[in-house]
Amino acid sequence: MRRRRIYEGKSKVLFEGPQPGTLVQYFKDDASAFNNKKKGVITGKGVLNNRISEYLMLRLAEIGVPTHFVRRLNMREQLVREVEIIPVEVMVRNVAAGSIAKRLGLEKGTNLPRPIVEYYLNNDDLGDPMVSEEHIAAFNWAGTQDLDDMVQLALRVNDFLSGLFLGVGLKLVDFKLEFGRLWDDEEMRIVIADEISPDSCRLWDLKTNECLDKDRFRHDMGRVEEAYQEVARRLGVLPEAAPVDMKGPKLVR
Ligand code: TMP
Repeated sequence: MRRRRIYEGKSKVLFEGPQPGTLVQYFKDDASAFNNKKKGVITGKGVLNNRISEYLMLRLAEIGVPTHFVRRLNMREQLVREVEIIPVEVMVRNVAAGSIAKRLGLEKGTNLPRPIVEYYLNNDDLGDPMVSEEHIAAFNWAGTQDLDDMVQLALRVNDFLSGLFLGVGLKLVDFKLEFGRLWDDEEMRIVIADEISPDSCRLWDLKTNECLDKDRFRHDMGRVEEAYQEVARRLGVLPEAAPVDMKGPKLVR
């Protein structure tokens, strides 16, 4: 059955779901970085991020953190609740890396004194600029209560996922969350949307500090596919058929 395409992003496609209020989220192998200036393909990434995000969203649901995730449908697709996306991305950082290291002149790898929350406006044309609570309130991108809920959830996710990753020998350096509004019988809830995967987290090996996330693609560090596989393997969600079956349809002569 061909489904109506609702939205195509850099690494995912959203299709109309089987029931009203649902969407099918399709994970591509496409990768982009530096506000789309760098583009490429990470073979098998879509299959792995589908599994990794499924796993993390399910574990979060178990501790009562609401998410848009319903169930995985197949290798590259998951069923999610349709939400009204809030245009503010929330970043939580435990260790200095990436843009905070550059902006504040911190040495990469420095432990931050406490988890630091930052907000970015989700706007590709502007390159997702960093914004403050003042901007969010003044332009009404999210209400005060919404933002409060988002921060509380982000910090709970940080504590929980830091522990979860620690248990498999990984350090959660930082991550990005997107949120949406979901209406159930007139009542609005803020839920986690999008995905949680090595595309949206920095994950370093606990012993060696080896980077096992999208930074390998961003900075041409090599062994990109292997990094995603290693994260999936440690979480116990590496598909048995990987990586041969992940490359999509093969031409049979
Ligand atoms: P940053 O250090 O480049 O600001 O990134 C912080 C975290 O957010 C890192 O885990 C990568 C993730 N991230 C996204 O998921 N999407 C983005 O567009 C950016 C800039 C970062």
